[in-house]
Amino acid sequence: MCGIYGFIGGGKVEELVNGLKKLEYRGYDSAGIAFAKNGKLFVEKHTGKVDQLRNFLDSDLSLRINAGIAHTRWASHGIPNDLNAHPQMDCQHKIAVVHNGIIENYIQLRDELEIEGHIFVSQTDTEVIAHLVEKYFNGDLLEAVRKAILDLEGTYAIGVLHADVEDEIVFARRKSPLVVATDGKRSYCASDVTPLISSSRDVVFLEDGQLAKLTAEKFEIFESSGKAVEKKIHHVEWSEKAAEKGGYKHFMLKEIHEEPRVISDALAGRISKNEVIFRELEGWSSNLNVNKINVIACGTSYHAGLIFKYFFETLRPFNIEVEVSSEYRYRNVFIDDRTLTIVISQSGETADTLESVRLVKSLGGKVLAISNVVGSTLTREADKTLYINAGPEISVASTKAYVGQLTVLYLLALYIDKTFGGDHPDIVESLRKLPEIMDNFMISSTETIKEVAEKYVGYTNFMYIGRGMNYPSALEGALKLKEISYTNAVGYQAGELKHGPIALLDEKFPVMAVAVDDKLHNKMMSNILETKARNAHVVAILTEGDTEALKSINDAIYVPKLPSHLYPFLVGTVFQLFAYYVADARDLNIDMPRNLAKSVTIE
Ligand code: F6R
Repeated sequence: MCGIYGFIGGGKVEELVNGLKKLEYRGYDSAGIAFAKNGKLFVEKHTGKVDQLRNFLDSDLSLRINAGIAHTRWASHGIPNDLNAHPQMDCQHKIAVVHNGIIENYIQLRDELEIEGHIFVSQTDTEVIAHLVEKYFNGDLLEAVRKAILDLEGTYAIGVLHADVEDEIVFARRKSPLVVATDGKRSYCASDVTPLISSSRDVVFLEDGQLAKLTAEKFEIFESSGKAVEKKIHHVEWSEKAAEKGGYKHFMLKEIHEEPRVISDALAGRISKNEVIFRELEGWSSNLNVNKINVIACGTSYHAGLIFKYFFETLRPFNIEVEVSSEYRYRNVFIDDRTLTIVISQSGETADTLESVRLVKSLGGKVLAISNVVGSTLTREADKTLYINAGPEISVASTKAYVGQLTVLYLLALYIDKTFGGDHPDIVESLRKLPEIMDNFMISSTETIKEVAEKYVGYTNFMYIGRGMNYPSALEGALKLKEISYTNAVGYQAGELKHGPIALLDEKFPVMAVAVDDKLHNKMMSNILETKARNAHVVAILTEGDTEALKSINDAIYVPKLPSHLYPFLVGTVFQLFAYYVADARDLNIDMPRNLAKSVTIE
């Protein structure tokens, strides 16, 4: 996820930086701007936050320009460095492009463009867009951008400026947001309304496949066929602070609602004809021909690792061990050349996880990292990395990154299984459909989850239970509730209750049970009856249509009927929303819970 801002109609360079600053929550590993003067393109871009860019610009901040585009980056292709920062340029340094999203076919496009003589300088997917616009430019910038986007596969919001076209800037979108506005003297475009509302509250949200041509006095919207479309003006009432959160009260809620998009981005470019492909692992497949997999992580990432194990075992029996990093690093572990170590860390900076990586490497083991932060320590020390491409997670409690981790881990399981001859087109297809399912589910069920959460807000202890793949979901649900609502919550394998924890239960100790229609459903229902017999109130996550279970529980949250392996995704979201609404009803500091840090860099 990155932030894009641009204006046309006259202003100071500093206004580009100010606009960008309001989008910094969308990405902050590098920042850059571009503007043109007298047919010459000026670009300033650097690693670091927007304020560092401001320092670099220094006296140029007061320069008057007609138009400019700006970008704050969260890397997906290419480590954060000055070359990979946006804007990216064409061979002649006439065209500047800023981009948010993932171009899935960029390797193929780059190869073709190189054969045609284009010279590439960065590792980004974005640079192909600048060269495509260069290739198609014939005096008409809109037309060149239109032709360029027809070649692109994947997701994008792009802004394009051409040094020879001073009276126009062009933007285009597919699946990454862009908003356009004008006050009649200047026109603006940005990734969200935050930097626009001080100029105009009447905005147009570009739709997928649309382009916007901005001139000083107005903007026009076109389909990718070139046909002009009528503008749908929205009047925005949000405050700037609310706009940053997309109108949601907290970043956590916004990030939960981003989950369908996160799944799409994690899948992007990794499925072809119902088979998983990981370009990142090309030439490395021999390291996947293993007979043992160790998974190491902390907290939420550890729970994602546990689900990986359960999922992999549905594909084939396999020797998989999942361990928390703070334990693993002190163990006398066995590793040989047929052991693969998968290390999961959203931040890529968790101290215990990094020490575990060093232990594995000192024993000659191979490390495959799964991370959200390009260039983080983990990704530099691992042999290979698969990025989840979730964009920055601002809320301390991990939500969308967890869903991104699960998505990549499922793909990885399928990919490793393929090296042993496995073929599961049905599962790949189910993953492809998941973003839409998740989206519909959130639209239809968020209110119910909120109502149930508000009903249980007065309780101080919760027991989360599940079986099989949904046992780690129980652990994760309990963790979410603990960390943001400061409520005691424990997660257990439902079958373990009678070995001790059931002694805790009474009418003051509710049970959150995952009882979806998988192969362990009947066993789960027996466990639920055991808890009911102790007078516990039971909130159950059930599959739509299961009315029979209602007799044994107090409150139901229904999820749609799915293949069993997909339930952990939706169950995870239910528990995240439940924890969120309990914490919100108590008016707590949800995005920054006490005693916690986003990146745990101490042991
Ligand atoms: C919980 C949470 C933590 C992290 C854990 C590992 O919501 O965010 O439990 O999952 O600290 O962090 P990473 O994945 O950055 O290594």
